[in-house]
Amino acid sequence: MRVPFKKNIIVFILCLNITCILAQNKIPKIQVEKGEATTAFIEAKIDSIIAVLTLEEKVAMTHAQSKFSTKGVARLGIPEVWMSDGPHGVREEISWDAWENAGWSNDSITAFPALTCLAATFNPELANKYGYNLGEEARYREKDVLLGPGVNIYRTPFNGRNFEYLGEDPFLASTMVVPYIKGIQENGIAACVKHFALNNQEHWRDKINVEVSDRALHEIYLPAFKAAVQKGNVWALMGAYNKFRGQYTTHNKILHKILKTDWGFDGVVISDWSSVHSTKEAALYGVDMEMGTGTDGLGTTTSNHYEHYYLATPFLKAIKNGELSEDLVNDKVRRILRLIYRTNLNPDRGLGKLNTKQHHKVAREVAAEGIVLLKNQDNFFPIQDKEGITIAVIGENATRNMTQGGGSSQLKPLFEISPLQGLKERYKHAKIIHTMGYESGPSVYDATIPAALNQDSLYVKAIEVAKKADIVLFAGGLNKSYHQDSEGDDRENFALPYGQEKLINSIYEVNKNLGFLLLTGNAVGMNWLPKTKGVIQTWYLGSMAGYAIADVVSGDVNPSGKLPFSFPKELNDNAAHSFGEISYPGNGVDQEYKEDIFVGYRWFDTKKIEPQYAFGYGLSYSNFTISDVKINQAKFNKNDKIKVTFNVTNTGDREGAEVVQVYVGKPKSKVKRALKELKGFAKISLDKGTEKTASVTINASDLAYYNTEISDWSLEKGTYYLYVGNASNNIKKKIKFIIY
Ligand code: BGC
Repeated sequence: MRVPFKKNIIVFILCLNITCILAQNKIPKIQVEKGEATTAFIEAKIDSIIAVLTLEEKVAMTHAQSKFSTKGVARLGIPEVWMSDGPHGVREEISWDAWENAGWSNDSITAFPALTCLAATFNPELANKYGYNLGEEARYREKDVLLGPGVNIYRTPFNGRNFEYLGEDPFLASTMVVPYIKGIQENGIAACVKHFALNNQEHWRDKINVEVSDRALHEIYLPAFKAAVQKGNVWALMGAYNKFRGQYTTHNKILHKILKTDWGFDGVVISDWSSVHSTKEAALYGVDMEMGTGTDGLGTTTSNHYEHYYLATPFLKAIKNGELSEDLVNDKVRRILRLIYRTNLNPDRGLGKLNTKQHHKVAREVAAEGIVLLKNQDNFFPIQDKEGITIAVIGENATRNMTQGGGSSQLKPLFEISPLQGLKERYKHAKIIHTMGYESGPSVYDATIPAALNQDSLYVKAIEVAKKADIVLFAGGLNKSYHQDSEGDDRENFALPYGQEKLINSIYEVNKNLGFLLLTGNAVGMNWLPKTKGVIQTWYLGSMAGYAIADVVSGDVNPSGKLPFSFPKELNDNAAHSFGEISYPGNGVDQEYKEDIFVGYRWFDTKKIEPQYAFGYGLSYSNFTISDVKINQAKFNKNDKIKVTFNVTNTGDREGAEVVQVYVGKPKSKVKRALKELKGFAKISLDKGTEKTASVTINASDLAYYNTEISDWSLEKGTYYLYVGNASNNIKKKIKFIIY
């Protein structure tokens, strides 16, 4: 067909224009191919993308578009970022714009044990398996970021979220968090270590201002985050709700100074949900993505709500009118694009898997290995499966669903094996009977709902059942209800709730053959301890809980877990509580961490207070001896490695594992110091009657303290001691050495 000359000219000019626009904008190819994804290549690609993004598109990437996602840029093919809680399982789908679940039928997952249990395994290889298998589930559920792990240090047994964290010791938490992160990220899923920083209680978490010394900050509260960043290469980190030195932690100067500058974190800082309070501070001090609980970041509803977030329209306006530099948003977008290339656009990531046999196996392995045998008078445990005996399992926790409640870490597992079910399936000959004994009411996030059943009848029935049984296993402790082990507020009492103590005392009157399965994520008051012959600390174990408990109760698995935090005898024996209200929970505005660096066993040791159960403690069905403890030399300089070698012998009559712990202390020092601090450990598995030689290596430089005079680490010269044992209060050998 003949085209008129005039039309030809118009078509020509149009084509020229389009070519010019494309050339000017140089729209980059977003996808990367396998083998291309080198750091330099990706960084160059990010440069080319930032060059063509509009300011509006950039700002849109820095805040939520829904409860758990942020916007991509459709015209360029930049995907959205999808996140999910949490540390021990992938949370069910939540509605786009509200906290209700989305009602999906294909989002049931494997619930792995809560992180306290993982810490109690003292097994970094298992932490890696845990992370990898959990990451596979997150990938299958098409997430980019998994909102965990939590590494806030266990400071008080009242903290409602301790069960989500890795205990009271910075070395243990650091050692366990790194392999967990690597395991998750191997799937092309970003771990998001949280909550940075000093979110050590839930009470007043959204406003309390923490005052803490620089030493405690660097030596106790930051090391696990630092390890996550520098050794785990974590791709995301979450801010916290509380304040530190008067400034909200999500946009605190420490994010910019310590995290991003000193530690070189190149990932994305995600706010906690509604923890941003200022556009300017958020822009300047490090938070890269603002997520929210309410719909305008403050908790009220308006139309077009996400546009009201601090890093939305107010941010855009401030850049447009020159109050804030565009470089600030560019840095945030650069980090977000890096995250997207590490996750969604990662050409190497697999497809993930959900609820595989392997996932269930790993969940059970972690659960069984993290269970801690606290007391075993007259070899009460393991309990034989004998014809003709009756085991009464008494207590609500025998059947209570522990993946429900607790706040954002709540899960919807495909199944959850209760302790009762696990025991019933394992015990084929003995008769298992159950009665509730007490009832606590439903798990509700932010309210306490009273129990519906008649407590007196439950009590009377429990005594009747206990009378007739040969053995009583009491399954109690705390649960995931508000004011127990739950997000949003703290516990209010150290003693066991729901009348359990009275019930145990009464059961003891009718049956002295009494053992306790203690389901908690926290230390509890143990006035009832003398009434029991055996106590097993079972934590919250997820999908395979009942099987893992039965594994240990029956002796199929020999317990090898060790406590990742100290159990005080009295609440005020705990350091934070011993300084009164200003130390815990604070006065409603401020709080001072008066115990300073003396957290957990550092306090018990140094002040010579006997704990109920010490950090690092846990029994076995076997017995171990530690002998021939030797150090490679007597004097070290800062570049040396201190190698401690020892023999471990299994003198019992079955296989098992022992955790040898190496602590270091410096008795004479120019700064205050704890008697000793954990610097290494090794978990050693041994057949009965066998012996192994093992070692722990410590970098001499890791014995440095944080020197506030120079705001850096200093290695003090002089005499130190090594303490080697199988619990912080059971030291078998003390060896002197010199740092010169
Ligand atoms: C919690 C975070 C969690 C987020 C999203 C917040 O309330 O503190 O740990 O990841 O909610 O559910």
